[in-house]
Amino acid sequence: MITNTQGEILAPSIEKLFKKVPLSAQDIFVDLGSGRGQITKQVFLQTEVKEAWGIECLELLHLEAIKELPVSEGRRLNFILGDFLNYSLMGATVALINSACFGPKLLNPLGERLNQTTSIKTVCTLRPILTLTRLQFIKTIRVECSWDSALCYIYQ
Ligand SMILES: C[S@@+](CC[C@H](N)C(=O)[O-])C[C@H]1O[C@@H](n2cnc3c(N)ncnc32)[C@H](O)[C@@H]1O
Repeated sequence: MITNTQGEILAPSIEKLFKKVPLSAQDIFVDLGSGRGQITKQVFLQTEVKEAWGIECLELLHLEAIKELPVSEGRRLNFILGDFLNYSLMGATVALINSACFGPKLLNPLGERLNQTTSIKTVCTLRPILTLTRLQFIKTIRVECSWDSALCYIYQ
């Protein structure tokens, strides 16, 4: 497994991002590399998504994510401890990847996984994913992160 833990996308930028890329009550959102889980929880609380999943490979961060879980009747918030390359993403419709520190050894197989997961209609990633060929690159949206501002690449 290849991992890197640096940096977070700041909450106001997540709000801005999902106003420009709206999420509906039919959507299942997944944060691939969800860290402390703050984005997964924010999306769960601030949008209508029916499910929000966070997949994180580092146990300490996963344990922090599951400390306080907001509840909302009829909807599901789910944190998974594991490698997102080994976890079935089928059912998810929108994926966010704070991939600023991910290299090609992680991004290339991730693109293949996203190609295979036909339920995913939107991918938001801080680095372009060259192997993601099933969806088209649409635009970039500037986001503020804990280290600097960055471009988020939107594929649909
Ligand atoms: C930059 S942090 C992003 C945290 C959060 N999504 C955010 O944007 O604020 C990237 C996270 O991806 C996790 N990660 C890296 N490779 C992973 C993999 N193969 N499977 C699951 N998590 C991974 C790291 O441990 C790290 O917590």
